[in-house]
Amino acid sequence: MDWGPNIVAFCCNWCAYAGADLAGVTRMQYPSNVKIVRVMCSGRVEPSMVLRCFQNGADGVMVLGCHIGDCHYQIGNRNAEKRFQDTQMLVERMGISPDRLLLRWISAAEGALFAQTCRDFTEKVRRLGPLEAGGR
Ligand code: FES
Repeated sequence: MDWGPNIVAFCCNWCAYAGADLAGVTRMQYPSNVKIVRVMCSGRVEPSMVLRCFQNGADGVMVLGCHIGDCHYQIGNRNAEKRFQDTQMLVERMGISPDRLLLRWISAAEGALFAQTCRDFTEKVRRLGPLEAGGR
């Protein structure tokens, strides 16, 4: 059987999570190895949360939030961008490829984009290989 990467998707409650829900109710196909963690805002995702995912077996982590200008906490996704850059630097210093991270904006109406993002990112991480096996 083909190896499938473990992917964690932090989804903000108001947009990306609703987009994931739409993908589900409209039966759009996306890989079952994507595990969704609902957060109130993408700006809530701290670098330590992403590192903990990698420590606990994730091969890739996505942070998915509202489009710029649509964040329900005004500048939460702007903060997410800054935190994401910090996280990229941190994982790189730890010898983990920043390609194992993805930040993307997905609205509640974009179920298809959610599903496509999951498929594309899963494929990208699959090509990188398992993190624990030295895939980096
Ligand atoms: Fe969705 Fe802030 S509430 S990114």
